[in-house]
Amino acid sequence: MASNVPPLKVAVLHYQPSTDPMDPVVGHICDAFTALGHTPVTIAVHESVSPLLKAIEESKADLVFNVCETFADDYRLEVNVAALMEMARIRFTGSGTAGLLLAQDKILTKQLLEYHEVPTPNFLTFDGDTFEAFGRMAFPLIVKPAKSDASLGIGTHSVVKDWDELTRRVRDIRKTLNDESLAEEFIDGREVYVGVIGTPTKPEILPIVELDWGKWDPTKPKVSDREVKFGAHTDDSPFLEIAKNISPELQARIERSALLAFRALKIRDYARVDLRISDKGDAYVLEVNPNPYLEKESELAMAAEQRGLSYTQLIGRIVESAASRYGLKVRGEKTTTGETPQASAAVA
Ligand SMILES: Nc1ncnc2c1ncn2[C@@H]1O[C@H](COP(=O)(O)OP(=O)(O)O)[C@@H](O)[C@H]1O
Ligand SMILES: [Mg+2]
Repeated sequence: MASNVPPLKVAVLHYQPSTDPMDPVVGHICDAFTALGHTPVTIAVHESVSPLLKAIEESKADLVFNVCETFADDYRLEVNVAALMEMARIRFTGSGTAGLLLAQDKILTKQLLEYHEVPTPNFLTFDGDTFEAFGRMAFPLIVKPAKSDASLGIGTHSVVKDWDELTRRVRDIRKTLNDESLAEEFIDGREVYVGVIGTPTKPEILPIVELDWGKWDPTKPKVSDREVKFGAHTDDSPFLEIAKNISPELQARIERSALLAFRALKIRDYARVDLRISDKGDAYVLEVNPNPYLEKESELAMAAEQRGLSYTQLIGRIVESAASRYGLKVRGEKTTTGETPQASAAVA
């Protein structure tokens, strides 16, 4: 398949607890590399630092494709894996420490979104000692751990209707997850996801994907909890589809927000932005996922397909975006100065 990138040895870096089977996404990405003319290798991350660095060095990979979301069972250490690679001057796809850190912290994310005037639900932050409010808001609110991911600590119980319930949730999050809390207006409306791929200067915004709630119990607030995300799928479960009935004007506002959020949070190569649309038709950014799941059925893959990009092409675009950052060019093309000194020397 034609690509602007020379054939590379690319290592998929993935989290691999010893007792779990390998995530199918690793195989999907490797197959895409092969189809693109690259040579795939895989590197499993678990809980040791030195062997990890050694494995990357011994792989002699030109580029690491980083889908590692956890280290030593702690998803908050995702950013440290990227930090390690930056210190070792290893080239890798996806966000660096800046993007991973800013997007992982939902409070920092919201503060940056406010600064860049990206619509986001009004919110309250609780750091353990004090609380601070950003904008006027009314119950119900949803209370989230500041550093949650994959709906950890988030469920229908997170939606609170008074101060009593709110303080109880904040205390519980401190006790069980040792984290700060973010409480924000609960936007009872449509839930959509927007993929953004490419460099901050030349990003491409993918078609909008929506979560259809299926036969959701109408007495319960609609919250995409772990059951929705990872539970067994039945005919009644919520499911993903390409969003319909979005006016061109609303689509433009959603795309603008997704793009501003991508840039504000210093994201690289790809991300998925989660939004809610209120009944009044206002779109609010909830969070940005700098390392979204790239499995074949994922939101990003669905959106790419709708755009006419096969899964292989989607993976190719991510590789291309990273390759252009590091100055990995097709032989004979003029090389630009990459972020890594050895970059062009290795393959040019
Ligand atoms: N302000 C909100 N209004 C309505 N639903 C929300 C809000 N914030 C979060 N949710 C629900 O909770 C889910 C998880 O929240 P999110 O902020 O995306 O965190 P995570 O990192 O766990 O995905 C969302 O997909 C959505 O269903
Ligand atoms: Mg989310």
